[in-house]
Amino acid sequence: MEQFCTAIILAAGQGTRMNSRLPKVCHRCFGEPLITHVERGLDHAGIENAIAVVGHGQEIVKPLLSPETQPVEQPVQRGTGDAVRIALETAEIPDESIVLITYGDIPGIRPATYQKILARFRKEQADMVLLTATLPDPAGYGRIVRENNRVAKIIEHREASASQREIKEINTGVICCTAAVLRKYLPLISADNQAEEYYLTDIIELLNRDSGIVLPEKISDTWEITGINRRAQLIEFEQSWYKQLRKQLLNQGVTLHDPALFKAGPWVNWGQDIVLENSVTLVGETTIGSGTRITGPSRIENSTIGEQSTIISSQITDARLGNRVRVGPYCHIRPGTSTGNDVRLGNFVEIKMSRIGNNTNVSHLSYIGDAILGENVNIGAGTITCNYDGYKKHRTTIGDNVFVGSNCELVAPLNIQSGAMLGAGSTITSDIPADSLGLTRPRQEIKQNWVKEHWKPRKQEETDQ
Ligand code: UD1
Ligand code: CA
Repeated sequence: MEQFCTAIILAAGQGTRMNSRLPKVCHRCFGEPLITHVERGLDHAGIENAIAVVGHGQEIVKPLLSPETQPVEQPVQRGTGDAVRIALETAEIPDESIVLITYGDIPGIRPATYQKILARFRKEQADMVLLTATLPDPAGYGRIVRENNRVAKIIEHREASASQREIKEINTGVICCTAAVLRKYLPLISADNQAEEYYLTDIIELLNRDSGIVLPEKISDTWEITGINRRAQLIEFEQSWYKQLRKQLLNQGVTLHDPALFKAGPWVNWGQDIVLENSVTLVGETTIGSGTRITGPSRIENSTIGEQSTIISSQITDARLGNRVRVGPYCHIRPGTSTGNDVRLGNFVEIKMSRIGNNTNVSHLSYIGDAILGENVNIGAGTITCNYDGYKKHRTTIGDNVFVGSNCELVAPLNIQSGAMLGAGSTITSDIPADSLGLTRPRQEIKQNWVKEHWKPRKQEETDQ
């Protein structure tokens, strides 16, 4: 049986060099908070348990955490060793559990890298595995002091001698060991150093004294281990990802007509023969199906777009769209929306929290909220679901093959059964049975010659006023 694994994300620091009121891990990278990328990386690596150590601006950090991440408070930031100790004391982690320590400000670590460290730890029965990297400019980082391909100790930059500062191999911060090892050695470290902090990295020397095995796992892609400390670094980190992604996408069958205007994060899934034009931004866990064309400005966030679909100048958030769906221009699809195939959501249409069946059209100027629409429904221009009574939201249900004339108000809660038809301009307040016509339109009057007898056109100077 595989050992249970818990991740500890250190995120209590302020991030002074960001020059910000916002805690560092809340700054957005690829459209999402830094810490969200770390959570995703761990989750995709199959590590389901995560604890985040929060401190500075925790009231802002906590609401951004995934519901699966357990926050633990470190009231005073007394170093990485102290942060891990608090996590172990607060969250009940069994001694035999593997603990993977990472930071909230290293958003680039790939799931495969986390998996590699865990696999190495399990295979070699090491006491600890550290993720290391060789950097041309290692200033500021803890240096790896090696002995026979093992790590003898980590010396923090501040404490390092001139010759130790020559070492180019650094500690990325990602460390894997058991909870038992941390429980044994953390109480033994002191804050007797330049920073007056409890350095987590001091436990390595102690482990070695007890003949422990500490192995370095070296990573070659140094982009992954970039720690974000300054805004310039954040932007550089993003740009270097975009550059690499654009090249990769063009090679794998995605056409980017305006590569400089295109942005997508690392969690996007790509089909083939996708065409992107103008400014397109894809955020979070978004999937774009094969043969789909998107023209910008469009922003798609945590959504799935099926195959052969067309999105024109629209914003889509937390939604799932089927195949051959046409969206826009200027459509706003809000969280909780899903559609079948061959759906049309046209210009100036807003959809929220609704399910829309196959072949259904909402083509112009409509608001559909908290609704379920069946198949082959036609929603006429300007139709609005009146879903909110000032206190509560109410549902609208529309069956298959319903025809809603233009400019109807559907006052929820409402059930329009299959095959019904609503006359244009109606305000519908009660349920409509199947195959029936609902109409609230006042009867039209015609007064012959009324205009001629009652109304004279104004003179030009009067009209101008
Ligand atoms: C740390 C490592 C160093 C490594 C470097 C990589 C130690 C002692 N040093 O140094 O070897 O090369 O990261 O970037 O571990 N944090 C808390 N509570 C605290 C202190 C820090 O949660 O009391 C968090 C910070 O928010 C940050 C992370 O831990 O996310 C690292 O802390 P930081 O102070 O940046 O450590 P470094 O000095 O950079
Ligand atoms: Ca740092």
